[in-house]
Amino acid sequence: MTAGPTREPFDPARFISNPSTGRMGYALAAEAMRRGAEVTLICGPTHLEAPPGAHLVRVTTADEMFRAALNQAPGVDLVLKAAAVADYRPEVRSPGKIKKDVLRRKARKGQGADRAILLRLLPTPDILEEIGRRKKPGQVLVGFAAETGDLEANALKKLRRKNLDLIVANRIGQDGEGFEAGTNRALVIDRHGKKTGLPLMTKEAMAVAVLDLAEPLLAAADGRRGGRGTRTVS
Ligand code: CTP
Repeated sequence: MTAGPTREPFDPARFISNPSTGRMGYALAAEAMRRGAEVTLICGPTHLEAPPGAHLVRVTTADEMFRAALNQAPGVDLVLKAAAVADYRPEVRSPGKIKKDVLRRKARKGQGADRAILLRLLPTPDILEEIGRRKKPGQVLVGFAAETGDLEANALKKLRRKNLDLIVANRIGQDGEGFEAGTNRALVIDRHGKKTGLPLMTKEAMAVAVLDLAEPLLAAADGRRGGRGTRTVS
């Protein structure tokens, strides 16, 4: 299970991130444990209290989340990738704080057009896509999609590109849904194209609904593998 945002710093005081609070991922972790799963929760910076009983791996950047997730993935039955990974990171990370008076002096000397900080952003690794590439037989992968445009078409593209079994797509930029909201509304699509609309509900209720859809896939995969008893979720 991954949850929360990642932070991509360009100096010790500043970073690029997104408004994810981690609430959806934490709710999924708590619900999975309630159902008897052993849960590893890889989470970016969040103020939430970790669900008791989860193996907690705290990370900050997308690169750190990539390493932690790829390390855990081979040993788990179900991957739930709720984290809002920052897609871009600054190319250069200054070891010291970038000082405004230094930029001001440079601008005065004509060494810079103005006092702006120019950031070149490089893409971070797509963690879920890599897990999808290395997916083991019987593993179930659940991804998320945060969209402003065509929810269904974009979600389907991500489902296929990342080799997922299920995708939970929600809109961002609207009250009561997605980032920072206590509630969410989603369209869930499975690998056969079957769609389930989840109406506006708390993120805790949505965790129940998502696991209700994921668990039968796990049971089917378990049957193909001959059953393993304990379920592990990462
Ligand atoms: N994801 C990931 N690693 C990334 C970016 C996204 O593992 N570097 C995962 C998210 O955790 C989520 C899914 O991929 O489960 C979709 O994330 P989303 O931000 O909606 O889409 P992107 O694939 O980043 O595509 P885009 O930003 O173009 O919508």
